[in-house]
Amino acid sequence: MKVAIIGAGNMGGALARGLAKGSRIATDEIFVANPSTPKLEALKREFPDINTTTENGVAAAAADIVVLAVKPWKVEAVLNEIKPQLDYTRQAVASMVGGLTIAQLGAYLDKGDGQLPATYIIIPNTAIATLSSMTFIASARSSSEADDSLLEVFNELGEAMLIEESAMAAATSLASCGIAYALRYVRAAMEGGVELGIRADEAKRIVMQTLRGAVDLLEANNSHPEAEIDRVTTPGGLTIKGLNAMEAAGFTHSVIEGLRASTKR
Ligand SMILES: NC(=O)c1ccc[n+]([C@@H]2O[C@H](COP(=O)([O-])OP(=O)(O)OC[C@H]3O[C@@H](n4cnc5c(N)ncnc54)[C@H](OP(=O)(O)O)[C@@H]3O)[C@@H](O)[C@H]2O)c1
Repeated sequence: MKVAIIGAGNMGGALARGLAKGSRIATDEIFVANPSTPKLEALKREFPDINTTTENGVAAAAADIVVLAVKPWKVEAVLNEIKPQLDYTRQAVASMVGGLTIAQLGAYLDKGDGQLPATYIIIPNTAIATLSSMTFIASARSSSEADDSLLEVFNELGEAMLIEESAMAAATSLASCGIAYALRYVRAAMEGGVELGIRADEAKRIVMQTLRGAVDLLEANNSHPEAEIDRVTTPGGLTIKGLNAMEAAGFTHSVIEGLRASTKR
């Protein structure tokens, strides 16, 4: 599968690097377009077989799937530029652009003849840079075989899930905004550790390994979080005192309110 990535910034660059490290797409089947050259040169230095160009049309024409990784306000101009060269019977268009819907993408892609390509909304999170993204894919006008191939590609960059577009806001609240929320927990726990006399760098290592342990336990035991919590909450013990103090300060309520707030534009 030949992939063109339009925009070599944070997301486009991370996607290109992830694909190049993975096994599903040959490096010489990755085409990256960007108006300025420094990011393209950096990609080329890391992966000499990646194809880079400053011409969006050149990258798009070569691809089975064109992935848009530009800022939202650039999408219309980029699609106006490349759509005359796109063959909708064999090429799919995917968007990583925050907030762009399948309907909006279809409106931009319309050539006036009623034909539209297979279209995807792909929303990874920033952990795509470390191949540990939680990526959501919503599709329109595509075959289930094509959806499965795309899922396999993104499963190599972390974990990917095919969802209805209507669930995208909730899913990205959990996973894309969720990265920030998880990091706020890390920061809060570090600050607590420092107040209790642990050095900040040590507190960070401790919190990170503790979170890894919690995730590993959930995966290894395929358990509900409360079952793992029960294992560490001795009746009358310290952990339940801590949990109850956190809940009295609104822990669960704060998390849910944060998630709800980040689904509203
Ligand atoms: N960052 C995130 O966490 C995240 C998560 C999910 C989705 N997204 C979405 O991903 C998209 C890209 O975000 P980003 O953080 O990667 O932004 P970014 O780092 O600013 O990257 C955008 C890239 O697009 C290039 N560009 C500008 N005009 C272009 C054009 N006409 N044709 C082709 N490329 C062009 C820019 O090149 P120059 O620098 O040379 O101008 C830049 O390299 C956004 O729509 C965002 O909503 C981001």
